[in-house]
Amino acid sequence: MSQTINVTNMVKTKNKIPTLAPPSLLGWLGEFRRDPLGVMTRTREFGDVVRLPMGPQSFYVVNEPASIQRILQDNHRNYSKATRALKMIKQVSGENIFTGEGEFWLKRRRLMQPMFHRQQIVMFGTVMQQAAQELLNEWDASANSIVNVDAEMMRVTLKIVGRALFSVDFNAEIETLGENFSIGNEDLTFRIRHPFYPPRFVPTPRNRRAQAARQINSDIILRIILERQASGAPQRDLLALLMAMRDEETGEGLTEQELYRETLVMLFAGHETTSNALTWACYFISQHPDVERKLRAELDSVLQGRAPSLEDIPQLTYTRRVLD
Ligand code: HEM
Repeated sequence: MSQTINVTNMVKTKNKIPTLAPPSLLGWLGEFRRDPLGVMTRTREFGDVVRLPMGPQSFYVVNEPASIQRILQDNHRNYSKATRALKMIKQVSGENIFTGEGEFWLKRRRLMQPMFHRQQIVMFGTVMQQAAQELLNEWDASANSIVNVDAEMMRVTLKIVGRALFSVDFNAEIETLGENFSIGNEDLTFRIRHPFYPPRFVPTPRNRRAQAARQINSDIILRIILERQASGAPQRDLLALLMAMRDEETGEGLTEQELYRETLVMLFAGHETTSNALTWACYFISQHPDVERKLRAELDSVLQGRAPSLEDIPQLTYTRRVLD
């Protein structure tokens, strides 16, 4: 980014939040589109909280841990999730634990809490270890071929989320789900960065492609829900918990659409984040041979050649630091 960042008249802002002089009439939108991380990182030079005008709106970048804690924890009731980005996510995913607020969010959050109890995590650990082993076996079987780490990490994390949260093996559907989530994700990012793009109902090629991708994934997820409802097989996964949920006052369970909205968010949030984290970790490890050496040394000494389990995590301190 060649743009020099200037702080405008700080005295004019009543609350003394420094405002970065906008480079164009649209404010920081253009620069932000080109280099979001660069713009946000550079605001650090100008204060703990910095205002970036963006068209008719403003972005506030909070750079200081104590203020972040105040917003997200200590005084969270004063802040809402109703940002432009979240409104867009809500348009396509509806109200769920991720997009919901207040009482709705609290209810869902409490309901889902048992998913993250210790015994559940132990089960997830086994699922993860098995899926990782299967991936390694596949890589071994196709030795010497080039591996697309990004696609492979997406495949393995989707497999894990499918098994851990819904007790299903996506198999042939994995590529479809992954590709369509990527299309939907790219479309959301594009919309957040291009606020004047025609709304979803206008049949532009982009809108039609994103709509088709959402429809295919929605059909797959709804089918999983319907199959579970029909089979009645007892499971101890997220879907079972959601299906057993009853409203305290009315005694009613979640409708199919409500079940769909929660499972959609878990599938997406559960694989996209972890897949990116693993892909970037692989990339950076490949760029830092000294880190790779130490990582391998720790894994060799702690695991002694066997597969890792949840109990090994406290001993894998260097590995943990690499991922963090
Ligand atoms: C490297 C991995 C991950 C990262 C970096 C990450 C990041 C985040 C962030 C930043 C939020 C807060 C979003 C907001 O409210 O603005 C969030 C929320 C959430 N994440 Fe993750 N996540 C990761 C893994 C996962 C996994 C594996 C799952 C599910 C199995 C998951 C499910 C959720 C859910 C359900 C929420 C909403 C929680 C709530 O509002 O109460 N995430 N995640």
